[in-house]
Amino acid sequence: MASSQVCHLVFYLVMCFLILCSCAFGRELKPAMYLFGDSFLDIGNNNYLTSGVKANYYPYGIDYIEGEPTGRWGNGKNSMDFLVEMLGVSSPQPSLSFNGTSNMVEEFLKGANFASGGAGILDTTYLEVYCIPLGQQVELFKEMVVATIEQIGIVQTYEHISNSFIVIDIGSNDITIVADITIDPEEYVALLISTLQPRLKDLYIFGGRKFVTISAGALGCIPILRGKTETGECHEQLNVIAKLYNKELASLMQVLQSQSSNGDLHYSFFDRYAGVKKLYDNRESLGFTEVLVACCGAGNFNGSVRCTPGTVPCSNRTDHIYWDNTHYTEAFTSLCMELAFQGSAPYVHPINVKQLGELPISYVNPVNVEQVKDL
Ligand SMILES: *[C@@H]1O[C@H](CO)[C@@H](O)[C@H](O)[C@H]1NC(C)=O
Ligand SMILES: *[C@@H]1O[C@H](CO)[C@@H](O)[C@H](O)[C@H]1NC(C)=O
Ligand SMILES: *[C@@H]1O[C@H](CO)[C@@H](O)[C@H](O)[C@H]1NC(C)=O
Repeated sequence: MASSQVCHLVFYLVMCFLILCSCAFGRELKPAMYLFGDSFLDIGNNNYLTSGVKANYYPYGIDYIEGEPTGRWGNGKNSMDFLVEMLGVSSPQPSLSFNGTSNMVEEFLKGANFASGGAGILDTTYLEVYCIPLGQQVELFKEMVVATIEQIGIVQTYEHISNSFIVIDIGSNDITIVADITIDPEEYVALLISTLQPRLKDLYIFGGRKFVTISAGALGCIPILRGKTETGECHEQLNVIAKLYNKELASLMQVLQSQSSNGDLHYSFFDRYAGVKKLYDNRESLGFTEVLVACCGAGNFNGSVRCTPGTVPCSNRTDHIYWDNTHYTEAFTSLCMELAFQGSAPYVHPINVKQLGELPISYVNPVNVEQVKDL
């Protein structure tokens, strides 16, 4: 065989190998979902913490697959589960279930949920209740991205992250902890937003390009807070703060998009306050007959005592808005997420989650590796 033919053959084999390789990776690197936040998204990270608040006992999960308590803070599926179904991505595992294991990168590529019940934007929020604050969630994500870059290379890593979904639901705990404190809403919200901004920027720098941002609900009306007011009315200051936070969070997303290179940061902002109000206003036609009292708990509105292990909850979970003193039922969460997925402004903007999912595949030019590692 002439040497040029050998060359051809070698070239051909190498090309085959590369194509096979890229196909294998292509199959692995389906868009995934990376989630950050509090108990509205947590699927069990807190179970891995030695101390801390957990939801891994009956009756949590009573309507989940086989009635299994997973650490989800509800009777069944949470927002993540609905987003996963609607976007057709695989269901992420809690980040702490595979952090530091030998197949960490492989697991990470399938998505990861960093959310932790009790977490806030501020590191000091629920410091006494051990959880993973947002800053640490983002740090762990960054560590996993760096490990992924080392294993599959920076281009493929960035391609994957940029085509995946970044879901954020944070801020509710920072708001509810000031229930008994007189505070200047403007100042407090400004602190939350200025603390949140660098975290979201980090997620962008590390490849995030498709954000689903879930804002605060009508926190003043959750059973734990209604139970605190003498008349059983909503806690007005908290609703004021929640609405202001949502307004500023929406502006922050707009600013981040305008600062992104060629506007390549895409997002879907769900105004949960407006969404909850819309559903509440239509409660009768939606079949919610118990809109104030939680399904599990005790005291005023079942709000003053948390749903404790072994408690037999209400029998009908589809006619309740609240599962426990803080969290919505699966039935209500499902309608919220449907609104985020298919709805329009003012509930979800500038595009809904469905439109976000339909955006074309993007190719991001990674910042250089050394820069990433130094961050
Ligand atoms: C993740 O794993 C690493 C390595 O085992 C460990 O040092 C780190 O503390 C873990 N992070 C969290 C948040 O548990
Ligand atoms: C539970 O509530 C839903 C919604 O109001 C209603 O349609 C259903 O019939 C109720 N189920 C039972 C067993 O009462
Ligand atoms: C309040 O909670 C208890 C269990 O803690 C439950 O049995 C009861 O049905 C709840 N009340 C309502 C109106 O859902």
